[in-house]
Amino acid sequence: MDDLERLAADLRTAETAVALTGAGISAPSGVPTFRGDGGVWDRFDEGQFTHGRFQRDPAGFWAARIDLQRELFGDDHEPNVAHEALAALQQSGRLETIVTQNTDGLHDDAAEAISDGDRLQTPLDGPSILELHGNARRVRCVDCGQRAEADPIFERAAAGELPPRCDCGGLFKPDVVLFGEQLPGAAIQRARSLARESDVFLAIGSSLVVEPAASLPRIATGSGATVAVVTLEETPFDELADVVFRRDVTDVLPALYERLEES
Ligand code: APR
Repeated sequence: MDDLERLAADLRTAETAVALTGAGISAPSGVPTFRGDGGVWDRFDEGQFTHGRFQRDPAGFWAARIDLQRELFGDDHEPNVAHEALAALQQSGRLETIVTQNTDGLHDDAAEAISDGDRLQTPLDGPSILELHGNARRVRCVDCGQRAEADPIFERAAAGELPPRCDCGGLFKPDVVLFGEQLPGAAIQRARSLARESDVFLAIGSSLVVEPAASLPRIATGSGATVAVVTLEETPFDELADVVFRRDVTDVLPALYERLEES
């Protein structure tokens, strides 16, 4: 039995299967990854985008953020077959929740695309896509909490409104978790309980170096789950994983879906 068949067999009998995704699942869609050769943090200084910088120097933060937003999300990215395979696994009830570190919204687009409108009823205890690091398509006012589409606000910033402000006068902030910023407690608690409850945990396209997401596979292993890693490069978790696919997400995930559909 090959690794793919073993994983498919575990997914067939799993009560709770959870996927954690990182930038690698969006790389085939043209969204740059952060680490590894040519990663975003080789070309941009992470230090410019910390929560501390936002608080100290919001105008400078926003001026730098314009280029990063263009680099990450400037082109119109579409979900790829790996996003679609995960969405199809959710649709068929094989996958409970996708916990993503990505802020590109492509899992949502894939779910919309395959469900043509009638989205999955979200599981009672929360969304079927958990955006741990937020969503870069939105901004949020740090004073009144008002959310808005990101593009028009970035246009205002690029036209010289630095920092862009909400109608209430408060500062807008990209609706993502910045380095040094606390993740929303409810999100990480739910992600940890999903990892604890999971029978199968898929760690897809993540270098597994940024906490608290990087600890989720360890929590899953500790609870007896079958853990699979799908990344082109090594991760610190490879030795502990039950199966490692050193292959492209666009090969592995559609093939996994096909195996499950055959059965
Ligand atoms: N198929 C499989 N794996 C891939 C592919 C692909 N086509 N392309 C890239 N990868 C793998 C890389 O080998 C690497 O292991 O995806 C991983 C991407 O790692 P990172 O760039 O570090 O992305 P991620 O793990 O999501 O980063 C976590 O860091 O900068 C912060 O907030 C940001 O959410 C991000 C967090």
